Amino acid sequence: MDQLIKKIKAQEEIANQLETALPDREQLLEKVTESANQFLENLPTAKAYQQQEPKMESFLIPEEPKTIKEILDIIQEEVFEPGIRAASGGHMGYIPGGGVFSASLGDFLAAISNEYAGIAFASPGAVAMENVIINWLKKLFSFPENAVGNLASGGSISSLIALTAARDKYGVKNQHILQSVIYMTPQIHHCIQKSLRIIGLEDVIIRYIPLDRHYRMDTLALEKQIHADKSEGLSPFLVIASAGTTDVGAIDPLNEIANISERHRLWFHVDAAYGGFFILTSKKDKFKGIERADSLVVDPHKGMFLPYGIGAVLVKDADAVLHSNLYMANYMQDALSEDLVKSPANVSPELTKHFRALRMWLPLQLHGITPFIASLEEKLLLTTYFRKQLIAAGFQVGPEPELSVSYFWFPYPKDENDFNRRLLHHIHEDGTAFLSSTMLDGRFVIRIAILSFRTKLETIDKAMGMILGCLEKTKMDFSQSELKR
Ligand SMILES: Cc1ncc(COP(=O)(O)O)c(C=O)c1O
Repeated sequence: MDQLIKKIKAQEEIANQLETALPDREQLLEKVTESANQFLENLPTAKAYQQQEPKMESFLIPEEPKTIKEILDIIQEEVFEPGIRAASGGHMGYIPGGGVFSASLGDFLAAISNEYAGIAFASPGAVAMENVIINWLKKLFSFPENAVGNLASGGSISSLIALTAARDKYGVKNQHILQSVIYMTPQIHHCIQKSLRIIGLEDVIIRYIPLDRHYRMDTLALEKQIHADKSEGLSPFLVIASAGTTDVGAIDPLNEIANISERHRLWFHVDAAYGGFFILTSKKDKFKGIERADSLVVDPHKGMFLPYGIGAVLVKDADAVLHSNLYMANYMQDALSEDLVKSPANVSPELTKHFRALRMWLPLQLHGITPFIASLEEKLLLTTYFRKQLIAAGFQVGPEPELSVSYFWFPYPKDENDFNRRLLHHIHEDGTAFLSSTMLDGRFVIRIAILSFRTKLETIDKAMGMILGCLEKTKMDFSQSELKR
């Protein structure tokens, strides 16, 4: 026994290094805070994008521990510098968000306390907080009180939960898969097709419904297709609409789609990952019909400007969600509760769960909802401002956007796509602002996605200056290559 205790003590002495004493904690926090502050102070002047590969060897796990200074230097040089500076207001590619500072305090406390946020028995407070947020979202989207919801890692996993519920509600398995039909537009986010593959629905029939001029679902075509499928003996079961597409920010005609879904008894899912929080703004009416969805996804790491890693799903049919996620194991018997949907682990694939609610709840408590709404309104106005500047500079822009995503291209008389591809290349080389591109009906266009809470009037002006500089460079490239021909 003595020998055993001696061995334990020997290991304990080394293992104790994992517990950090108060003076060391204070010192470490001071250094980390300094680094964070430096990062934030530099943001307005830092590049939004830097084409640079990180040095992999910097990340290798060392034989000997490093000092906090060495570690922070690696993070600064090899993580913060290369690629898109997602916290920057100059990030206007893909779908930004920014990452409000107060959310980081929530994450800090969540990690310190290590609350087990999957099960109410283990962490009643953390779980109650998540449920309060879910209830707030239900109210926001006029979902009934008995709907269930979950805070997942993002829109993709949230969609997975919703689509799995739809699958199980309609019993789409085995031989039924080949006859089952899902409707969506070609503008749907690819996380939907990915989810379908993951949940074993790769072989369902997907009908891509044509779009109108504004890239919204043509509902006449939808209903015609459903009739045609039914008369062929197929089994339509799911319609997926977007409330803010990634490419152009389009909102499908939600209310009409809800009517059609109701008439044909289909599950109606809405991907509002990007657009959903604009329901808080003057654009509220555009979301009419979203309350009639069977499920919806909305991403606080987009429209609530939270750091990456939080999406939300709401589903009306609790039984369908429980069917796919509830599992009782012997070692979980103490955690059994009457109220099954109360525990996030019963309504999502996650068991052990990061205490995500805190990163959303804390900012909402600290700032209130008003500045979030103002920031969303600001983004809508900035989109109009940016477009006006682009038009004045001779660019073509897409139709009046519904939200804060739009696109433009320069009407070059020859090889227009190549010209705009080259223009984006110069924009990426410059990096003052980051923009991304897409293809629309064969045309290469440059997207503007204004959703970072840090994107301001000055950010747009700076981006515009950069675009004009890059336009000149592109024109020069093209006139030189013309001369060479
Ligand atoms: C419309 C839409 N849906 C879903 C997603 C996927 O969300 P996530 O990247 O959080 O998984 C995105 C991502 O940009 C999106 O724009």
